[in-house]
Amino acid sequence: STPEELEARLLSTLQDAGPIADSGEFASAQGVDHGRVVGIVKSLQSDGLVSSEGTEHASFELTDEGAGYREAGSPEAQVWNDIPAEGVPVTHALLTSPMGRIGQSKGLAKKWLYMDKSSPEARVKRKVDSISDTTQEQLIKISQGQHQDIPAKELADLKKRKMIRDVKRFTYRVTKGPEFALQRRKAATDLTADMLVKGTWKEEKFKAYNFNALGQPPAGGHLHPLLKVRTQFRKIFTQMGFQEMPTNAFVESSFWNFDALFQPQQHPARDAHDTFFLTHPARAPISHVPEDYLERVRNVHERGGYSSTGYGTPWKVAEAEKNLLRTHTTAVSSRMLYKLAQSGFQPAKYFSIDRVFRNEAVDRTHLAEFHQIEGVVCDVGLTLGHLIGILKLFFTRLGLPKLRFKPAYNPYTEPSMEIFSYSEELKKWIEVGNSGMFRPEMLRPMGLPENVNVIAWGLGLERPTMILYGIDNIRDLFGHKVNLSMVKRNPICRLGF
Ligand code: PHE
Repeated sequence: STPEELEARLLSTLQDAGPIADSGEFASAQGVDHGRVVGIVKSLQSDGLVSSEGTEHASFELTDEGAGYREAGSPEAQVWNDIPAEGVPVTHALLTSPMGRIGQSKGLAKKWLYMDKSSPEARVKRKVDSISDTTQEQLIKISQGQHQDIPAKELADLKKRKMIRDVKRFTYRVTKGPEFALQRRKAATDLTADMLVKGTWKEEKFKAYNFNALGQPPAGGHLHPLLKVRTQFRKIFTQMGFQEMPTNAFVESSFWNFDALFQPQQHPARDAHDTFFLTHPARAPISHVPEDYLERVRNVHERGGYSSTGYGTPWKVAEAEKNLLRTHTTAVSSRMLYKLAQSGFQPAKYFSIDRVFRNEAVDRTHLAEFHQIEGVVCDVGLTLGHLIGILKLFFTRLGLPKLRFKPAYNPYTEPSMEIFSYSEELKKWIEVGNSGMFRPEMLRPMGLPENVNVIAWGLGLERPTMILYGIDNIRDLFGHKVNLSMVKRNPICRLGF
């Protein structure tokens, strides 16, 4: 019977025949396991439909060994059965096995067997023509819960022989509860507008709050693919011993974004067509930059030095004070390198992954804000060979082992190289980054020692993410046109092999 049927039968029994004196008897009358009846009684009781009162009963259950003898007979009966008319010598395996030894000694004690010592070799023979295996009968009774008419002494003996053990059993007297009904009424879980309007809330039965229940999983809090890929880049950098630079300031002064990088004040990138300048406030004093450093920057721009001729045009603090949204994370690198020079030079490996802004026309591959990944290594005697070596290491970890380099130009690096990787998928070389060795015109004014070189490279976070996630329009990845379900459902994609 189903749990519902059993429950209905229990309730109708209470209605028609009055209290159920013993749940155990009810269970056997229904031909079901007592445990099921107890479960239903407990659950009905928690809803107030029934009340119950338990009685503890001492009872017994068979051990594994006892269960075996219930099927095959007691050891003494098994030995008696197996002994032929002429008996067997005492050395016979029938008598020397563990069970044979018990069977023999019990059989002798019960006078089912005897020892015949008339011949030189003693033999064990049957003493009676028939036996009745009361031990097996008792085991059968006990397994059916009917141990009542077995004498206590014999129960104790079965226990001593490790065929049975004590168990405590509860049975219940079941009566109608305060909320008795023939059918359980489902408790309401919520107060509804309908109940309020109709007034049925007065009669409604409400389910108690379960304060331990787990809540619904929150719908928010999903990681954007860019964040997932950023985490992987972070891991690669940290595994290579790089430290992350603080990139939390989107607003930067022109000084750290351009001037400190030896980018001329007349450079086209400093045009409002390429750079977002702030209007409020358009300028901020760069008083945090010490006067002597500022002077060295002015000198190198106007007149050169460190075997450079400079730009030969006037350098204005007012231009350097213009606020902008940083156009590259190299603005952060320049701050960090200056700091490194001030605190007494030590070799350093830095990285950053964060947002930058450029006043560009938006299309399928360009946005006005995007993310740059940048690596910087600062040490004595670094060469272009070191740069190529570290780029090979880094891009191999990304799964791009085939690299080519092409001479390029950046105002702040010399030499500069664009990085190309062969795409097996597209069957062509694609540009994956930009790199170079920072110019002395940038490093010497900061106060970095003459024999110290800095190699650096940068790449976008969006392109590798789009390739990994199979997104071909950048506007599907980032910005106001992004489908939020993409953010909820995107998989974890692994960089590299
Ligand atoms: N800042 C460069 C860019 O915006 C990338 C770069 C970083 C190049 C470091 C050389 C060295 O593309």
